[in-house]
Amino acid sequence: MLKKFSCFLQAFARGAEDLSHMRRSFIILNVLLVLVLFTDGPWAIRASSHCKQTNQADFRPHSVSITEFGAVGDGVTLNTKAFQNAIFYLNSFTDKGGAKLFVPAGRWLTGSFDLISHLTLWLDRDAVILGSTNSVDWPVVDPLPSYGRGRELPGGRHRSLIFGQNLTDVIITGDNGTIDGQGSIWWSWFRNKTLNYTRPHLVEFINSTGVVISNLTFLDSPFWTIHPVYCSNVIVQNVTILAPFHSPNTDGIDPDSSDDVCIEDCHISTGDDLIAIKSGWDEYGITYGRPSKNIIIRRLSGQTPSAGIAIGSEMSGGVSEVRAEDLQFYNSNNGIRIKTSPGRGGYVKNVHISNMRLANVNVSIRFTGQYGEHPDAHYDQHALPIIERVTMENIIGENITYAGLLEGIEGDTFHDICLLNITLNVNSTCSWNCSNVQGYSDLVSPETCGPLREKIFPEHCSNCYRLSSHLKNSGNQNRGAWLLSW
Ligand SMILES: *[C@@H]1O[C@H](CO)[C@@H](O)[C@H](O)[C@H]1NC(C)=O
Ligand SMILES: *[C@@H]1O[C@H](CO)[C@@H](O)[C@H](O)[C@H]1NC(C)=O
Ligand SMILES: *[C@@H]1O[C@H](CO)[C@@H](O)[C@H](O)[C@H]1NC(C)=O
Ligand SMILES: *[C@@H]1O[C@H](CO)[C@@H](O)[C@H](O)[C@H]1NC(C)=O
Ligand SMILES: *[C@@H]1O[C@H](CO)[C@@H](O)[C@H](O)[C@H]1NC(C)=O
Ligand SMILES: *[C@@H]1O[C@H](CO)[C@@H](O)[C@H](O)[C@H]1NC(C)=O
Ligand SMILES: *[C@@H]1O[C@H](CO)[C@@H](O)[C@H](O)[C@H]1NC(C)=O
Ligand SMILES: *[C@@H]1O[C@H](CO)[C@@H](O)[C@H](O)[C@H]1NC(C)=O
Ligand SMILES: *[C@@H]1O[C@H](CO)[C@@H](O)[C@H](O)[C@H]1NC(C)=O
Ligand SMILES: *[C@@H]1O[C@H](CO)[C@@H](O)[C@H](O)[C@H]1NC(C)=O
Ligand SMILES: *[C@@H]1O[C@H](CO)[C@@H](O)[C@H](O)[C@H]1NC(C)=O
Ligand SMILES: *[C@@H]1O[C@H](CO)[C@@H](O)[C@H](O)[C@H]1NC(C)=O
Repeated sequence: MLKKFSCFLQAFARGAEDLSHMRRSFIILNVLLVLVLFTDGPWAIRASSHCKQTNQADFRPHSVSITEFGAVGDGVTLNTKAFQNAIFYLNSFTDKGGAKLFVPAGRWLTGSFDLISHLTLWLDRDAVILGSTNSVDWPVVDPLPSYGRGRELPGGRHRSLIFGQNLTDVIITGDNGTIDGQGSIWWSWFRNKTLNYTRPHLVEFINSTGVVISNLTFLDSPFWTIHPVYCSNVIVQNVTILAPFHSPNTDGIDPDSSDDVCIEDCHISTGDDLIAIKSGWDEYGITYGRPSKNIIIRRLSGQTPSAGIAIGSEMSGGVSEVRAEDLQFYNSNNGIRIKTSPGRGGYVKNVHISNMRLANVNVSIRFTGQYGEHPDAHYDQHALPIIERVTMENIIGENITYAGLLEGIEGDTFHDICLLNITLNVNSTCSWNCSNVQGYSDLVSPETCGPLREKIFPEHCSNCYRLSSHLKNSGNQNRGAWLLSW
């Protein structure tokens, strides 16, 4: 709001420049600009509101332990029935303030089970929920409508180990207990091509609101680890997600056609993107039309053979209002990556990345306009994605091979890309390589590519999404000089 206001004021000031009765409005304008420049508060509050838990679920009046339902924590006994029975029993408390299912220390082998609304699944410090290594314990469910088919194979997909659909107010938390997918068997099936259906996630919520996942460790997911899809108000806080560097498609957290998602204080090191924001696939995603928006990511660290934060490649329902800050990626292939393709349609807009530190990273910032990978032959080649208003600022990188590989789509320029205060220690001669992109930059070293070399001035604030530090710091002087000049 304030930023929009400041842009409005600048436009107003420019328009008023040649008017003679300027004195009074100059003073008012100055006061307002000072307010705009030094009041970041309301922004911070507004932007972080969905990082706060809204459901009053700190206390659940009813609590049971999984052992009361015959579970055996020996790592061998299959406890699927115990989990299902416990949750069936707790279902009678959903309208009585909800309930807690306690998982004590032990190794609790299980197949896929369903959660319910107003439930807290609580894992004690040495509690480990282990995913069964038998694929029949992960039943096959329908593909998501926004994908039209399973992501890796046509048809259905194995259901996640911990699953929830149409839920509200559901929490998975504990004292750093562990949910271990034992995914290596799935990675082998994937590699030797003996899968019959798309691999399962470790945790998936479909069409749910008020989801909290916190204070836990997730290991070795068969496929993407945490997948909220068609969800609102999702918080993932203070979790560790680990999988081997070369495990296939073990993304950390994939917010998919979901809004008001907050991911903070997480450490993720996996075999694919640490966070990938998605919104459906080609014609299916376009038809379903549910975007991912209002996504906050902060205080994230980790390493990846893919990207620290990716958007896409499935983004056909659109992705907007993404804010990521305080990021640290090391020994990784890409820092930030936007992936798309002709046929995807949709958009990626209003993205702001700031305060990122990179070390030993191949490509700091990467746009891929020809990612390929289509669900079938029926996609519309003329459905071009719109990529606009992406700002990256305050980035430091050591031992970087490529500063940026920014490849848009011919006839579909990715525009209003703004780079500010970026210092990369590049260890090769190829620093920036850009095609079909347009934008602005300032204080970027090594110097960025031609299409982004136009300098950022305050009047670009309508082009550059949330140029915060520029307005507060260097932009301050520019604006002062500019104000004095009339
Ligand atoms: C989503 O869940 C709500 C509430 O449980 C339900 O009313 C609605 O029909 C569901 N929508 C879809 C598309 O599943
Ligand atoms: C979720 O809601 C949709 C729409 O009402 C319904 O078709 C579906 O069966 C529900 N699924 C579950 C698991 O409740
Ligand atoms: C993170 O979780 C651990 C347990 O997993 C807990 O001890 C610690 O206090 C949590 N930190 C925050 C900031 O919530
Ligand atoms: C939780 O456990 C994981 C794995 O053992 C560990 O790496 C992490 O530091 C622990 N987190 C906290 C907050 O104690
Ligand atoms: C594929 O891998 C699985 C798991 O390691 C193994 O059980 C199976 O025999 C392998 N199948 C083939 C055809 O290689
Ligand atoms: C695929 O289907 C075959 C035949 O039903 C079955 O033997 C095999 O176990 C299945 N593979 C997996 C990974 O589930
Ligand atoms: C995580 O654990 C800490 C320490 O026990 C607690 O203060 C915090 O509320 C927990 N966070 C969530 C989101 O459950
Ligand atoms: C640069 O990164 C590579 C690969 O991560 C590593 O082998 C090399 O030692 C690093 N160089 C420096 C100077 O840190
Ligand atoms: C440059 O850095 C990359 C990424 O860390 C590393 O893979 C590569 O070996 C480094 N090259 C040199 C010449 O140090
Ligand atoms: C670095 O990125 C380039 C360009 O995408 C790629 O060809 C190369 O394989 C990458 N290097 C590593 C070590 O991943
Ligand atoms: C530039 O970015 C670095 C961190 O990457 C930060 O410490 C510094 O304050 C920034 N400078 C300005 C002018 O914002
Ligand atoms: C830039 O990238 C294009 C396409 O990715 C490649 O063909 C070209 O050789 C690269 N140029 C430089 C100077 O690296």
